[in-house]
Amino acid sequence: MDINTIRKETRGCTDKIFLNSAGSSLVPDTVFNQMMNILTEEAQIGGYAVAGLNQQGIDEFYIEAAKLLNCAPENMSFQTSATDAYAKAISSIEFKAGDIILTTDDDYVSNQLSFLALKKRFGIRIIRAANLPDGDLDLVAFEELVRVHQPKLVALTHIPTSSGLIQAADEVGAICRKYNVWYLVDACQSVGQLVVDVQKMGCDFLTATGRKFLRGPRGTGFLYVSDRALEAGLAPLIFDMVGAEWTSVDVYTLVPTAKRFEFWESSIAGRLAFKEALKYANHIGMANIEKYNADLMAQFRNQLGQIKGLHLQDRGTHISSILTLTMDHHTTEEIAARLREHNVYFSLSTIGSAMINFPKKKIKNAVRLSPHYFNTPEELEKVVAILDF
Ligand SMILES: Cc1ncc(COP(=O)(O)O)c(C=O)c1O
Repeated sequence: MDINTIRKETRGCTDKIFLNSAGSSLVPDTVFNQMMNILTEEAQIGGYAVAGLNQQGIDEFYIEAAKLLNCAPENMSFQTSATDAYAKAISSIEFKAGDIILTTDDDYVSNQLSFLALKKRFGIRIIRAANLPDGDLDLVAFEELVRVHQPKLVALTHIPTSSGLIQAADEVGAICRKYNVWYLVDACQSVGQLVVDVQKMGCDFLTATGRKFLRGPRGTGFLYVSDRALEAGLAPLIFDMVGAEWTSVDVYTLVPTAKRFEFWESSIAGRLAFKEALKYANHIGMANIEKYNADLMAQFRNQLGQIKGLHLQDRGTHISSILTLTMDHHTTEEIAARLREHNVYFSLSTIGSAMINFPKKKIKNAVRLSPHYFNTPEELEKVVAILDF
């Protein structure tokens, strides 16, 4: 990985220390240029003509997304966000009263809200699997829950929004395959950061957004759908003329690919720019990115861990590039003010997104730092010095 070139190609990274890739990252110049070029063309000739001229680029989106996840382009669909993808995936399952969704304490806030909405409307049951004392999912207990309850759906967030924990998505997938249960993975925080392989995971659906570790534009995302789910005829509750063909007055036929989960309208600039972001990640190589990030974070965590009274709040055997921290002698607001003063970009995680996780840690909020491969060890050393106050 040529970090100097990567930084040169990231116009936003030179005048600040940007540690918010878990929020909305900095796009590479190729993504920015693509977006601007398409918008400029649209201003000249209109959106439909531009889409027509760029059909090849639009098709390449599926190829790059498939390459990233190790599947076929036919298993990929474009979505406008991770939540858009998630809502469509979950709507494809015909829940009835008493059906069970098995999930975890660390699943994303909006996913938990959608489970609660299904509970209210259809009378489904939600079971949340227990964690081991070190924060990892208890896989033995998890398998037992699957065996005993035969859930309709297992829903797992690979990396939560407000902690660095990496959940055992492959191992959970093996359990789902053994018991033949639909398996939905929220990989919003893991794609672009780690190698994510849907074959290894054995998932039926995988959702992600463009703007985070994938470094794409806002308003983009994708949904992977397995052959198993497509062949079983799963389709979103509401689809449109991309997802199905209206074959006679009262009849429709679903398209055979994951495009049945797509809507017709979307930003072509966004799609093409997202394709550039995927191409960029594939070109650098996810294994290289994962390795660089792991080394960067090991050093960062180690250095921060030496600051007296600073608590790294992330638990689990495998921890990602999301780092959450609190301090004994400063409130989260004081730490935030200090970071802003030094031009460090970051996020705050609050209990509203971690209703189960934060009370266990006896915290209400935390500072979230999420470096990525355009960051350098020197930048992070500066942040350590800034936080030693
Ligand atoms: C784990 C996780 N899942 C899903 C989402 C939702 O993504 P989007 O805002 O693109 O719908 C987020 C956003 O922070 C997230 O962190």
